[in-house]
Amino acid sequence: MAKGTVNVGIIGFGTVGSGTAKILLNSKELIRQKTGLDINLKRISDLDITRDRGVKVPDGVLTTSAKDVIYDPDIDIVVELIGGIHPAKDFMLEAISQKKHVVTANKALLATEGRDIFKSADEHGVDVGFEASVAGGIPIIKVLREGLVANSITAIYGIINGTCNYILTKMTNEGAEFSDTLKEAQRLGYAEADPTFDIEGIDTTHKLTILASLAFGIPLSYNKIYREGITHITAQDIAFAGELGYKIKLLAITKITGDSIEMRVHPTMVPNNYLISKIDGVFNAVYVEGDSVGATLYYGRGAGDMPTGSAVVADIIDIAKKIQTNSPPDNFIRSLAKDTYDKKIMDMGDVMSNYYFRFSALDKPGVLSKISGVLGANNISIASVIQKGRQVGGSVPLVMLTHTAREKDVLNALNEINKMPVVSEKTLFIRVEGKVE
Ligand code: HSE
Repeated sequence: MAKGTVNVGIIGFGTVGSGTAKILLNSKELIRQKTGLDINLKRISDLDITRDRGVKVPDGVLTTSAKDVIYDPDIDIVVELIGGIHPAKDFMLEAISQKKHVVTANKALLATEGRDIFKSADEHGVDVGFEASVAGGIPIIKVLREGLVANSITAIYGIINGTCNYILTKMTNEGAEFSDTLKEAQRLGYAEADPTFDIEGIDTTHKLTILASLAFGIPLSYNKIYREGITHITAQDIAFAGELGYKIKLLAITKITGDSIEMRVHPTMVPNNYLISKIDGVFNAVYVEGDSVGATLYYGRGAGDMPTGSAVVADIIDIAKKIQTNSPPDNFIRSLAKDTYDKKIMDMGDVMSNYYFRFSALDKPGVLSKISGVLGANNISIASVIQKGRQVGGSVPLVMLTHTAREKDVLNALNEINKMPVVSEKTLFIRVEGKVE
């Protein structure tokens, strides 16, 4: 039966919860004008209902019990915005079992245990909205589910963690070191509660898990994604990359190569003439390539109360429209509930890339030939070499760019080179996008 008013309950009145409430309350009339829908924010639960969130909530809406939201028979859509795995997952499953549609921004939960949520939603015939789980305010989930639905997706490259992009941008612009810049990002409130999630690439990998699953119809595959964070990147590497014509970005990459899917998260040198190299500060961007549409790029704020709230409300409205028309959830729910693969995932060792190496090598004749001998023996072709400075008897940075090489050959070669007495520190390497001449 079509309903005039759609009732919404929010669990979690933190940053995103407050943004969502502000939009639902302050833009109620705008939403009605644009969609004809009357979205009523019926309840908000949080353990702390006294703190001022900068939004005037009508009397009787706030409660300290999530059960008041989940078991309210009038509530059609339950919005989970507490984050983390438990009790967020339990609340969502409980709401689904009550035949409520659910909306969430919880990328960690969806990436690691989302299968249970989507499976249960499929069994109960309810929808799951998760636009806010990837790239905050950028409607990238809608792009994959709707805008580009007629395409076979061939590649996605994303800058989808604002904290890392803020840190790398600041290191680039100011020559600052990593640890000082992280402190600044934390002070500004960009980093996740546990900054390890940001700087070790975990948050980016959560988001890539969701994108890859939607793009390629594969199960949510967090554990199959290669992950590297940005903690080992130094101001020196950023400066060398700049001299060579590149920016260093933490990229989430998934693409079809041959008959396999590549999925990887790592710092990447991106040529200065690529649009994505120009995405600075806390902004996010996602490049999506489809077989019909070709290259597309989406840009915007990936975090924050209002941008993320904007995505949450868009999901609420989409689901409300389906409630109005008694439409079933779309098939994506089923593909996200899958646990079997009909496509091959490429082993990281088989990935082909160009590489940047920074060796700490003794400054004496014959060292370069020893290093290049090992690279040659492992099928790695050198594109250019720069020795920085002169330090007779001491160590100098020896920087190289390679042509396309296989990851496992690179690891074997570096393993051997790192054991050489003429090499004083573990070699730093960064994968390089674009054509290296
Ligand atoms: N910590 C995340 C970021 C927030 O820095 O992008 C949004 O997921």
